[in-house]
Amino acid sequence: MLKQISSIEEYTNSYKMSISQPENFWAVIAENFLWKKKWTQIFSGGFEKADYKWFEGGKLNITENCLDRHLELLGNKTAILWEPNNPSEQNRKISYNELHEEVCQFSNALEKLGVKKGDTVCLYMPMIPELTIAMLSCARIGAIHSIVFGGFSAQSIADRILDAECMWMITADGCYRGNKPLYLKKIVDEALEKCQSIKKSIVFNRSNFECPMKEGRDLWWSDVIKNCSKTHEAITMDSEDPLFILYTSGSTGKPKGVLHTTAGYMVYVAYTFLNVFQYKPEQIYWCTADIGWVTGHSYIVYGPLLNGATTLMYEGIPQFPDWGRWWDVIDKYKVNIFYTAPTAIRSLEAQGLKSIEGKSLSSLKVLGSVGEPINKEAWEWYHKNIGKEKCPIIDTWWQTETGGILISSLAGITPEKATYATLPLPGIEPIIVDVEGAEIKEMIAEGNLCIRQSWPGQARTVYKNHARFIQTYFTTYPNKYFTGDGCKRDNDGNYRITGRVDDVMNVSGHRIGTAEVENAINEHPVVYENAVVGFPHAIKGQGIFAFVACQTHPKDILSFKQEVLDIVSKIIGPFAKPDRIEIVSGLPKTRSGKIMRRILRKISEGEFDKVGDISTLLNPEVVEEIMKKIRN
Ligand code: WTA
Repeated sequence: MLKQISSIEEYTNSYKMSISQPENFWAVIAENFLWKKKWTQIFSGGFEKADYKWFEGGKLNITENCLDRHLELLGNKTAILWEPNNPSEQNRKISYNELHEEVCQFSNALEKLGVKKGDTVCLYMPMIPELTIAMLSCARIGAIHSIVFGGFSAQSIADRILDAECMWMITADGCYRGNKPLYLKKIVDEALEKCQSIKKSIVFNRSNFECPMKEGRDLWWSDVIKNCSKTHEAITMDSEDPLFILYTSGSTGKPKGVLHTTAGYMVYVAYTFLNVFQYKPEQIYWCTADIGWVTGHSYIVYGPLLNGATTLMYEGIPQFPDWGRWWDVIDKYKVNIFYTAPTAIRSLEAQGLKSIEGKSLSSLKVLGSVGEPINKEAWEWYHKNIGKEKCPIIDTWWQTETGGILISSLAGITPEKATYATLPLPGIEPIIVDVEGAEIKEMIAEGNLCIRQSWPGQARTVYKNHARFIQTYFTTYPNKYFTGDGCKRDNDGNYRITGRVDDVMNVSGHRIGTAEVENAINEHPVVYENAVVGFPHAIKGQGIFAFVACQTHPKDILSFKQEVLDIVSKIIGPFAKPDRIEIVSGLPKTRSGKIMRRILRKISEGEFDKVGDISTLLNPEVVEEIMKKIRN
């Protein structure tokens, strides 16, 4: 088993060694896993061609490390605690033995259908244990899972299936989110009309929803596992074989299929889970994310299971049946480690303290935050009312592309500082660069955040588009990984992430590209151009502001705005709907025709005096007009 860092001295020593001798450092950690064959080379390659590799020559299967390896000692321990949407429905407890059997059985079923190593499988499922079983089964047989978050539209699913050339689909009839039914299979059916590549679609019956099955394509989960054995020999994978694809938004239109490989990801998420959360055996750990995002991949499924932890999965939403639900869940299962997002904390804070009345929360030991900068007020509310001023708060900064946490305090071990993610983890060397790309060496600094060297959990490529991968992350600042985030460093070397410096918005912790939303809005027949920017939003962190220019001014403004919202829901998903839509006669542009988003950003922030000199614009009168509108 991995050894945990348990003092600040150990952190300092590990950190020093990890930077001076990264290969030795990671080799010692990697020794703690189950390998079918050890690696021959710990690290090779670099950022220039983004051809870095970790533990090359090694052979393993990540699910043997998540499951088989624990059976002897932890077979009866609960691996997954599942809390349903509706509190009156029966919950589930799945032991490591049971999870192993279910994964083996479903792996056999997938192989029987013809799913092979290297095939890509699209998953679109509710937060139920079968999602974990399906993803682990893919990993066990060497298929690459591509999980699509349950809030995405049919169009978004189709785009992702086509891009990843998925041949297989795994879904469910549907689920409830609060009182609202979500008909997942219907959405998938619509998506599959555009995707001839899908050979079979496996459907789990979660809710007994009416669910027409397409002959020859759709199969019930319960049928495909019939007569399949509950033992399965895991396929041997190379360290650098792909494990999963996960789509994420960037500055340009189409989301990127970020690809993670097997061994490096495994070593990195296991190591960071154990150390950042300071997980102790027998503790109950709960991350409220959705498995459809990277936080769920790394810190609901792989990180906890690799450490033999008990991971809680909750199917529902925080406000159902009332805003006290999360606290009830914490008390019901005596949750020790709780990991959530600032946007959720702010929503809960907005409900006042009533939702916490009568809840004990005394089991809590560690609180975590992820996904966006946490503001001081939310930090303090979380610290005082949930942590009762006795739980350390870890503010974990990382990205889909980083695989796991890069900057965070280690709970209770290294110092915390409100609104700062604090110190880099071992193996991570952050650098701050100015706009010209020069590294700022002074301790107190502000600029763009880059990372100097590769770490095992780093994404390897954009699926089928390595050129785009290099272009996005390694060309702005040559020989450095550019994160897309801005940050500050204090005198003690603590990092505070200030937010994206590119055209990516962070709305309720969801990454959304401005271009994606703009492209969707452009589909409206009377829109001739539009620009989208993020603006400060009290609960969501950022809201979406759309400035829309129309060929003819819509007669019925309310229904026009509704149509715009509907289009965004249909093309991306309801979570990407703009919070504000303003109809304008044109967009501010430079003489060369470039849209001046900076000005729109200032206007949407209400900072009218900071729009700067507009006299050189092609159309300064448009800025005046927009400002006048917004002021009113
Ligand atoms: C932001 C989510 C401030 C950041 C794990 C990053 C954060 C983007 C934090 C990645 C944090 C994530 N403090 N900002 N603790 N964590 N971010 O890929 O802008 O969905 O670039 O990964 O979220 O979002 P992604």
